[in-house]
Amino acid sequence: MKVFRKIKELAEWIHAHKGEGGSVGFVPTMGALHRAHLELVSRAIKENDVVVCSIFVNPIQFNNKEDLRKYPRTLESDLAKLSEAGCDAAFCPDEQEIYPGNETKHYDFGHLDKVMEGKYREGHFNGVAVVVDRLFRIVTPNRAYFGEKDYQQLQIIKEMARIEGHPVDIVACPTVRENNGLAMSSRNSRLTPGQRSEASRIYKGLLMARKALSEGKAKSVDQVIRDVVSFIDSSPELRVEYFEIADPETLLPVRDVRQAPGAVGCIAVYAGDVRLIDNLSFN
Ligand code: PAJ
Repeated sequence: MKVFRKIKELAEWIHAHKGEGGSVGFVPTMGALHRAHLELVSRAIKENDVVVCSIFVNPIQFNNKEDLRKYPRTLESDLAKLSEAGCDAAFCPDEQEIYPGNETKHYDFGHLDKVMEGKYREGHFNGVAVVVDRLFRIVTPNRAYFGEKDYQQLQIIKEMARIEGHPVDIVACPTVRENNGLAMSSRNSRLTPGQRSEASRIYKGLLMARKALSEGKAKSVDQVIRDVVSFIDSSPELRVEYFEIADPETLLPVRDVRQAPGAVGCIAVYAGDVRLIDNLSFN
């Protein structure tokens, strides 16, 4: 596997492959790779001639300095995992390479970046959109792979690609879970064994909501939300930040039980100081 640290060298390598008519698949990550990242890479390998995976802990998407400082960094083992998975190239730029100047774009995503994660992590999605736009310009992928685990991020990236006119297919990949249902995340490595096992309540809570709403027995959406929050909060290890039942495209809250079966439940929960997010389609 090729490892590039400089834009110029990566761009030349990509240019050579595209010159031969090859398609480029792209998997952007912040490293600390786990099985879910590697599933994105495997899917990209099946669907493209060459695959590039980027590893860059993007400082401008962290609204919390401690979260950025504590974000796990495991470059050597990440590169070994990518190589073993059959990835063709890893791109591991430093901050200077990605942000040589101070200029930052400001996107208008309407309400898409104001709700849920956007409400609690100011500037987060603008930071995600800026870096993914920058990476798309460098990698010029035919297809780029993102996980449904970060459902709101996926909608933001689709909107950014539309605004910028990037000729790329955004491929959404299903959430990969631990055996106990906990969605895989680089942040899970910071959980104590007790927190990890209690965090299985997050997915159980989402399943509870889906069951209540799909069986049509729930009196109101608000009641379902209250029941799920109290189920999760009853664990001393966990604290729900928000649980919303949202329209899958606009992400606006769904209030009517009759609309809830087509909605998506989105949740953020603290386990100690580790912030976990998850979601489930009720369709
Ligand atoms: P990161 O958290 O490293 O995630 C990289 C990709 O892996 C994202 O598309 C994310 O949705 C996907 N992913 C992570 N955990 C997953 C899981 N359990 N199931 C399915 N997919 C999963 O998301 C980012 O990095 C950054 O915001 C990035 C897009 C790279 C921009 O900096």
